[in-house]
Amino acid sequence: MNIGITQGQVEQKYTRYHKLINDALGECFAKDSPETLYAPARYILEGKGKRIRPFLTLLASEAVCGDSRNAMHTALAIEILHNFTLMHDDIMDQADLRHGRPTVHLKWDANAAILSGDMMIAFAYEHALKTETKRHVELVHILNDANITICEGQALDMELEQRTDATIGDYLEMISKKTGRLISAALEAGGVTGDATVEQLERLVTFGENIGRAFQVQDDYLDIMAEDGKSGKIAGGDVINGKKTYLLLRSLELTGGERRKTLQSIIDNKGTEPERVPEIRAIYEECGVLDEARQIINRDTEEALSAIESLPHAEGREYLKGFALKLMKRDF
Ligand code: IPE
Ligand code: IPE
Ligand code: MG
Ligand code: MG
Ligand code: MG
Repeated sequence: MNIGITQGQVEQKYTRYHKLINDALGECFAKDSPETLYAPARYILEGKGKRIRPFLTLLASEAVCGDSRNAMHTALAIEILHNFTLMHDDIMDQADLRHGRPTVHLKWDANAAILSGDMMIAFAYEHALKTETKRHVELVHILNDANITICEGQALDMELEQRTDATIGDYLEMISKKTGRLISAALEAGGVTGDATVEQLERLVTFGENIGRAFQVQDDYLDIMAEDGKSGKIAGGDVINGKKTYLLLRSLELTGGERRKTLQSIIDNKGTEPERVPEIRAIYEECGVLDEARQIINRDTEEALSAIESLPHAEGREYLKGFALKLMKRDF
């Protein structure tokens, strides 16, 4: 794929903006008291988050000829909202590790994680309103829509866990809501701060929907394939917990006989022992679902790139494309 900038330039910009975002996040929850309210918010934001969404917000504002310094407040709003969803998601998933560290509900307790997460939502909106724009109402609508859609996605995710007849179609709807919408909202909100037209916003949203789907399929893929310790989560955690991921649902369609029975038993028993993860990984490998997942990630990324071809600021647009390619190749 020929784009106007190198992966090295993308890397440099990502590193630079990552630091700006982290420095600003570090100042967001400065209050000491109540300790059990503010310390969990600081703790999760100190974790090694990739800051993908706020980076996309900043790049989107540039791609429509805006000033990313003004988009920073909106970028922080998006990242704070994201971290609130992670805090609550870890309670729902009973996850022990996030960014390689104990999750908030283990380090404190579930009540602290619920309350601190709630408070973070309100802070996120306050940040968005600090952005200089005549379009605050639009920004709030985008954040609300993202927030509601994530809740829908998380509800569908939990409903899916109770079902034994879930299909790939159900899965794709669920991930577009729980993961795709915040990514597309990060881009849309960035576009609004740069005063984008309706058509430009639509293009940014399409770009986000495609990289969002690729991103979640990859999250599922890396859950079982990432090198030990790299994801900062438990390796094979989805299989151990019986999560209905792309890999599990699709491999049920692709296999028969003993293999299919083994996979179905993960669903029926709501998980399996950690010792069996390598066996499941081997079934995934043999039935071709890992290749297929990689193809989906590639196809969605291509579609994302073509969606933003007409954005007005060439350099900003090329950085967005370069970052989509970087995400496609991520291994963490
Ligand atoms: C994790 O998102 C939750 C998903 C939607 C898969 P990220 O992988 O972007 O999380 P951080 O912010 O980098 O930890
Ligand atoms: C998380 O999905 C989506 C949200 C936080 C809304 P997952 O449960 O798959 O994310 P990880 O794997 O815990 O990061
Ligand atoms: Mg989770
Ligand atoms: Mg979850
Ligand atoms: Mg996951």
